[in-house]
Amino acid sequence: MEIAIIGASGYAGGDLIRLLLAHPRAEVTCATSRKLSGTPVAKVHPQVRGLSSLVFSSPATDEIDVDVAFLAVPHTAAMTYARTLLDHGVRVVDLSADYRLPRSVFEAVYGVPHTDWFEVPYGIPEIHRDACRGAKFIANPGCFPTGATLAAAPLARSAHTIIFDSKTGVSGAGDNPSATTHYPNVGDNVNPYKWTTHRHLAEMRQEIAGLGSDARVYFTPHLVPVNRGILTTAHILMKEPMAQEEVIRRVQEFYRDEFFVRLQTPILAAVRGSNFCDIAAESEGDRVVVVSAIDNLGKGASGQAIQNMNLMCGFDEREGLTGAGLLP
Ligand SMILES: NC(=O)c1ccc[n+]([C@@H]2O[C@H](COP(=O)([O-])OP(=O)(O)OC[C@H]3O[C@@H](n4cnc5c(N)ncnc54)[C@H](OP(=O)(O)O)[C@@H]3O)[C@@H](O)[C@H]2O)c1
Repeated sequence: MEIAIIGASGYAGGDLIRLLLAHPRAEVTCATSRKLSGTPVAKVHPQVRGLSSLVFSSPATDEIDVDVAFLAVPHTAAMTYARTLLDHGVRVVDLSADYRLPRSVFEAVYGVPHTDWFEVPYGIPEIHRDACRGAKFIANPGCFPTGATLAAAPLARSAHTIIFDSKTGVSGAGDNPSATTHYPNVGDNVNPYKWTTHRHLAEMRQEIAGLGSDARVYFTPHLVPVNRGILTTAHILMKEPMAQEEVIRRVQEFYRDEFFVRLQTPILAAVRGSNFCDIAAESEGDRVVVVSAIDNLGKGASGQAIQNMNLMCGFDEREGLTGAGLLP
């Protein structure tokens, strides 16, 4: 299958290129960057030097002739590409926020009008597999909502309140430098940000409610001095106390057939570079603490996007994604 990556010079685009090198059925034939058109991909992503001879290009959207396109562009940009690609028979996985939420919620949360909204499956395969299988277009979830939703899902219906406390690596902000990501602000430091107002909260609330839960959902993110990874501590306040054995039974049962969710003590390094989400849970009766670890660029972005592509195309979900994490 021929693959296009729109926004291939960014972090998510770079990880799509890296991961797809190991996919037995996919070859990236188009890697776009408006600023770097004509530049070898390996100049920006030196990790693929010797493995990829791709050169960035900037074609008109209706000239992109591939089987699958990944939109690894900022929100509001994806909505300008999706329809044209779909009209030309290209399947699309959108890594941006443009199609993850109902139109009115998107416009309220992102503060911009949506110029081309339509309903699209939300691609956490462990929760929405049937909707994603065979789909022509999938909205790839946000990185925080992926780790948070996977942590809370098995117990969500038994909760009255869920508080997500997440620590994220700096690559979550993309490759555009800012004061927030400037090294002296990040190195040897931990910063809370958007304490109560992070945009990903809307996705978390949507997904927890979609699981049939009436729990109130809260979220506070923190920036920590690592490149990759999101560790989420979910404080799940239960309607009724639940014993440790029952908590573990529910989590095991929920993820019984899930290759990419592993039940073990979550540490970032064990999932770094991989598509795995590691989860562990501990009950103190009326509060259950569930912790999850993902790579924000793996299960939180490009890995999950490839998992979704596999589902769209009828492939084994694991194809191209069986690499282990990079520990140490
Ligand atoms: N970083 C993460 O951990 C992560 C996790 C989950 C989801 N995401 C989402 O994935 C998307 C990409 O994130 P990123 O971190 O890779 O961002 P990034 O590092 O800033 O890269 C953005 C890419 O999009 C291109 N681009 C920017 N504006 C464009 C436009 N209007 N039309 C076409 N191309 C455009 C850029 O290249 P040119 O400007 O040269 O064209 C670049 O290749 C975002 O929507 C982000 O929210 C990121």
